Amino acid sequence: MNVYDSARMADTLAPLGYVETDKVDDADMVVINTCHIREKASEKVFSELGRLRRMKETRQSEQNRDMSIAVAGCVAQAEGEEIARRAPWVDVIVGPQAYHTLPELVSKLDPSSRGAVMNTDFPVEDKFDFLPEEHAPRGPAAFLSVQEGCDKFCTFCVVPYTRGAEFSRPVKSIIDEAKRLLATGTVELTLLGQNVNAWHGMAVDGSTWNFGRLLYALAELDGLKRLRYVTSHPLDMHDLLFDAHVEIPQLMPYLHLPVQSGSNRILEAMNRRHDRDAYFKIIERLRHGRADMAVSGDFIVGFPGESDRDFADTLNLINEVKYASAYSFKYSPRPGTPAASDDMQIDEAVKSERLAGLQQLLTSQQQAFNHSKLDQVMDVLIERPANRAGQKAGRSPWMQAVHFSEDVGQIGDIVPLKIVSATQNSLAGQAVI
Ligand code: 5AD
Ligand code: SF4
Repeated sequence: MNVYDSARMADTLAPLGYVETDKVDDADMVVINTCHIREKASEKVFSELGRLRRMKETRQSEQNRDMSIAVAGCVAQAEGEEIARRAPWVDVIVGPQAYHTLPELVSKLDPSSRGAVMNTDFPVEDKFDFLPEEHAPRGPAAFLSVQEGCDKFCTFCVVPYTRGAEFSRPVKSIIDEAKRLLATGTVELTLLGQNVNAWHGMAVDGSTWNFGRLLYALAELDGLKRLRYVTSHPLDMHDLLFDAHVEIPQLMPYLHLPVQSGSNRILEAMNRRHDRDAYFKIIERLRHGRADMAVSGDFIVGFPGESDRDFADTLNLINEVKYASAYSFKYSPRPGTPAASDDMQIDEAVKSERLAGLQQLLTSQQQAFNHSKLDQVMDVLIERPANRAGQKAGRSPWMQAVHFSEDVGQIGDIVPLKIVSATQNSLAGQAVI
């Protein structure tokens, strides 16, 4: 979502004359869009701000030119005051629900004064109503935010505090943006939300649709060739969404469905509000509807009170589900969340050991999944020139990175390729003659 938000921030600044640059050295303004989900991500912000301070000072002393610094995103939201105190060279602090006010904040900039202009409100207005249209095409595969925030309050998670309460964008606003993207070369949409399948937005006739219904409506749009969504919560899977996976040809056979732990005891302590059997049933139903359905997940190891037995249950769940890919993390205590004050915190060494074991298993599953595609012909969306000269890069229906000769097709095409080699992280394809 930060990738999407960053692009929208660039949209808000474009009318003021700002264009994006790859080189920080060229920048008149640097916006750091931040993440607060784990401590490591938050800490990075302060080291980055130290580096930018030195750049800003050098720029001023050697070129007599100013560089403004903005901090956006969830660290700005949660630690705005602290940023202002610890890093007084920061000029703008803006939270994830207030970045449509960036032009106003930037207009208040005064290089001669110290201290930041700040907006970390959860405004009553819908920021999407105030954001300008995209100033540049988003490419063949684009993100589209449809839902933000969360009311679930998993005991480890800061999202309900940083992104705020659950909000669903109305249908018209989503469809309008989708149409604009499709008109400028996008063929694949990934709908975004912290709890995207909990989306329940207002339709044009004033009724409320569920997420499955939204997928059916988007699938009707001219030019939409692929549809994905991320991230989902098991509790919000619903009948029409299961149907969509069977009936909508553009909906890709891949679902990111985090479970976090395979232990019922830990799931309860995490306030996930479902058990492992409920998760198995969902996966079974998806695969019953579409045999080639691939699943990915998120896992946390070392949640307070997690025993060896609990951890073994997680490994067992992974063995049952067989993931195509997954993200896994050591539990990171976050300020203000209930689990952070639990007195059963797990030793860092134990967390590291469990994470290594879990990642070894997940890596072997990812490798097995990639290898299972060898010799198959699959549709690949061509996204960009590859890092390696002479090659292009794209994505399989199952989110695998695929590389192949640059002579094949054009960016934005979907082409059939035969998979000729597979590694843990990518596939190599050849044109089918
Ligand atoms: N510690 C470790 N991982 C976390 N996540 C969220 N909060 C924490 C935390 N406090 C992980 C979850 C979530 C993903 C986005 O980040 O696995 O699904
Ligand atoms: Fe965080 Fe997801 Fe739980 Fe919401 S459902 S609190 S975003 S982990």
